Amino acid sequence: MRSVIIGTGIGVPANIVTNEALSQLMDTSDEWIRVRSGIRERRYADPGQSSSDLGVIAAAQAIAQAGLTPADIDAVIFATMTPDRLLPGNGPLLQKGLGLRDIPTFDIRQQCSGFLYGLELADLFIQSGRYRRVLLVGAEVHTPFMPWHLGWDTLIGQSTREITEAERAENTLTRDRTVLFGDGAGAAVIEGREGEEGLRLIRLHTDGSGADVLTMHGAGFKRRPFVTHQQIDDGETLPFMAGKEVFRSAVTLMPQAVREVCEASGITVDSLDLVLVHQANLRIIEGVQKALGLPPEKVPHNVERFGNTTAATLPILLHECLTDGLIRPGMNLVFTALGSGLHWGAALYRT
Ligand code: ACO
Repeated sequence: MRSVIIGTGIGVPANIVTNEALSQLMDTSDEWIRVRSGIRERRYADPGQSSSDLGVIAAAQAIAQAGLTPADIDAVIFATMTPDRLLPGNGPLLQKGLGLRDIPTFDIRQQCSGFLYGLELADLFIQSGRYRRVLLVGAEVHTPFMPWHLGWDTLIGQSTREITEAERAENTLTRDRTVLFGDGAGAAVIEGREGEEGLRLIRLHTDGSGADVLTMHGAGFKRRPFVTHQQIDDGETLPFMAGKEVFRSAVTLMPQAVREVCEASGITVDSLDLVLVHQANLRIIEGVQKALGLPPEKVPHNVERFGNTTAATLPILLHECLTDGLIRPGMNLVFTALGSGLHWGAALYRT
């Protein structure tokens, strides 16, 4: 038996925020953002719209596309680093929002590698015979990390007020990170089926010595209390990113992981039809493509329209590639991701 993706869906907010709009709020420019990241625009959730809300939209579409109803789902895996609450996780919130049966829901938090780690768990659940149909959701709302109470009203068109110099200066402090991220959700329904189609092999990695490269120092239970006003004032409740180190790790370790699954499966990298790379940054995606010696058309991307949506990038890309007819029966595709942890890996899938 193999784990087969039988339905996909996405939940992306309506607000499209261009690079020009961001340059009204901080010292940045369309050119800087496009040259460094390839991103042209991203989506921002409405105030109050959460990652579980977007996950519900994506999951409902995936279940409908699979020709199923919520009652047919046997287990949920929810991957997010931006849950609605610290506790409980998003699993129970999605279960209530979708009207699922009393089934187990698992919350995982492997950040950008969340969808890949979720695929591994879903496959193990299915192969063990424990659950037949698993709903895997990757969803993020990054906007609460962004300190734009200073101008947020202007950004989403609720005010025409000019941003003050002080607000602009404060927004500029985090511009290296904020311009890269967007909000969104993707989901997949995975079912155990006999036949050639389905997941072939996953290899996952963790290197905790890279934990400080991409992290959030504040709001953690190593401190008493776990969050203080001082930590907020010091910016410790915002993600910290050593951008160049993350870049180097991404363009080295993702190609290694792709080669690893190909070698272990006895196929060549050349024979892959598509490689779906975590959509962090166009320069990273092109770096992976060149390191693998693949033509650009085999490594599709949509980071220019959504930015980095962390656990949601791979399921959103998968859904778009299926919708656009890029993925056809009989193809070898590989998913690969790297993110905070460091966690990374790759999965080989036969359509
Ligand atoms: N607009 C304008 N200028 C900016 C901005 C911005 N948004 N952000 C930073 N700058 C400035 C910096 O202040 C710096 O100015 P200075 O030279 O006067 O000090 C200058 O631009 C250059 O900054 P660098 O950090 O050297 O720029 P770099 O070329 O390294 O690009 C970037 C930064 C885009 C973050 C790059 O390191 C990168 O792509 N890293 C990968 C990180 C990534 O994609 N992370 C996503 C999350 S992790 C994941 O999903 C894998």
